[in-house]
Amino acid sequence: MMKVKDIALASVLVLLASAPSCIHMQLVRRTQLPNSHAAALGALCLDGSPPSYHLHKGFGSGANNWILFFEGGGWCGDISSCLDRAKSVLGSSHRMRKWALFSGILSNNASLNPDFYNWNRVKLRYCDGASFAGDGIFDNGTTLLYFRGKRIWQAIILDLLPKGLANAHQVSLLLCCSAGGLATFLHCDSFARMLPKASVKCLSDAGFFLDIKDIGLNHTIRSIFEAIVSLQGVERNLDPRCTKSMYDPKLCFFPEYSLKHIKTPFFVLNSAYDTVQFRISLVPSSADVGRTWGVCKHDLEACDADQIAVLQVFRHDMLKALIKSSLLKDKHSGGTFINSCHTHCQSNEQELWFAVNSPRINNKTIAEAVGDWYFSRRETKEIDCEFPCGTPRRTCHRLLPPPQATKYAKCGSVGNKTLVSEAGTHGGIGFNKDYLRA
Ligand SMILES: *[C@@H]1O[C@H](CO)[C@@H](O)[C@H](O)[C@H]1NC(C)=O
Ligand SMILES: *[C@@H]1O[C@H](CO)[C@@H](O)[C@H](O)[C@H]1NC(C)=O
Ligand SMILES: *[C@@H]1O[C@H](CO)[C@@H](O)[C@H](O)[C@H]1NC(C)=O
Ligand SMILES: *[C@@H]1O[C@H](CO)[C@@H](O)[C@H](O)[C@H]1NC(C)=O
Ligand SMILES: *[C@@H]1O[C@H](CO)[C@@H](O)[C@H](O)[C@H]1NC(C)=O
Repeated sequence: MMKVKDIALASVLVLLASAPSCIHMQLVRRTQLPNSHAAALGALCLDGSPPSYHLHKGFGSGANNWILFFEGGGWCGDISSCLDRAKSVLGSSHRMRKWALFSGILSNNASLNPDFYNWNRVKLRYCDGASFAGDGIFDNGTTLLYFRGKRIWQAIILDLLPKGLANAHQVSLLLCCSAGGLATFLHCDSFARMLPKASVKCLSDAGFFLDIKDIGLNHTIRSIFEAIVSLQGVERNLDPRCTKSMYDPKLCFFPEYSLKHIKTPFFVLNSAYDTVQFRISLVPSSADVGRTWGVCKHDLEACDADQIAVLQVFRHDMLKALIKSSLLKDKHSGGTFINSCHTHCQSNEQELWFAVNSPRINNKTIAEAVGDWYFSRRETKEIDCEFPCGTPRRTCHRLLPPPQATKYAKCGSVGNKTLVSEAGTHGGIGFNKDYLRA
């Protein structure tokens, strides 16, 4: 079986690998919860450091509206991979950079983010390894690990309430990506209950992980999720309406089972050929016995007819799960944008969110579709037709550069540090990241 450790890597690194670009960037400083405050609430990253977030204040008509964005980045489901993670940016705030770049739905520029640019925008840093949902500890006398995702989530909310979240009267949105996208399913309704005066709506980006068998007919993703849920004490934090209805309550970590019970208006943004699910759930390396999927995993255009047929079944399973959730029913408050790009996480990348050549369905960009749904401008249940029709390839921004090629662009400076945008491949997986370097 694929090691859970690998997943973190896959989810962190499977991002855009288009040429690096310097436009559309805004740097937002990190706020760390005071040590005493974090300790009192038991809200700690894997290594015991306090959790943190980046907040850019809203203004004008958006001053009372909020977007909370869960950072993604895989999971850890065994002690050894959680120990590794505790030494990384995904497990310790001591390792995190002070600044984050906000773009896409987090951009403060009206022409890049027309509906949400002036809202309060918060990026919650991910440092627990279980989609902000665990509550437990590992302590055998020599090794100590905190599994406190749920408390981190609650502590950050408590910190934000006096900063204006308590007065979010009209609207408020909870949103996110990948493992963060999964967190949305787990926290949406309870978040809505915490803010009874606000109108809460939730969106999951690339978080619709399906309970499917891999191509070797093994339940690979199910065993990965069960390991995470067991290790990190997630089960008691899952929606009881779901866990009571399931033969195996741990399965409520899967969105397709929890979504049925969610009462808050919900939007699912996902690719029908999600690169991460393709790699960890459908064709994990353990199942690719003949090593025949390598090129196809990188580029849908390179898949043979049998491989495409397997991917079409995956897409079909995703649509079936959405139909069962009733999200696609007429008049239902739910919305979807299921496109056919080979991609993962689309709301926080400017090129995918809202640009001249962004992916579109029925000529609507993701930003327009999400805004139309959010503000009830029209019913928004967009589903692209199956590959190779649908979204023109050139708008998918999914063409990976050749292996090992890394392109840099210098994008200005902060103090004496240079802001760098980098795109390339790592272990055969495309990535695009921005950071400061001395
Ligand atoms: C907003 O983005 C547009 C398009 O990229 C750019 O021309 C403009 O200068 C940006 N405005 C600000 C205030 O950064
Ligand atoms: C505690 O767990 C760690 C990690 O699994 C292991 O290396 C160590 O030997 C354990 N210590 C004891 C006392 O069992
Ligand atoms: C399925 O899982 C079993 C048990 O983990 C393993 O022995 C077998 O190799 C797997 N088969 C495939 C095709 O992945
Ligand atoms: C698609 O939308 C753009 C504006 O976003 C518009 O200029 C163009 O005419 C539209 N194309 C079609 C075919 O409707
Ligand atoms: C950059 O600035 C910081 C403080 O502003 C200083 O401590 C550091 O030495 C500087 N680094 C370089 C390379 O000049």
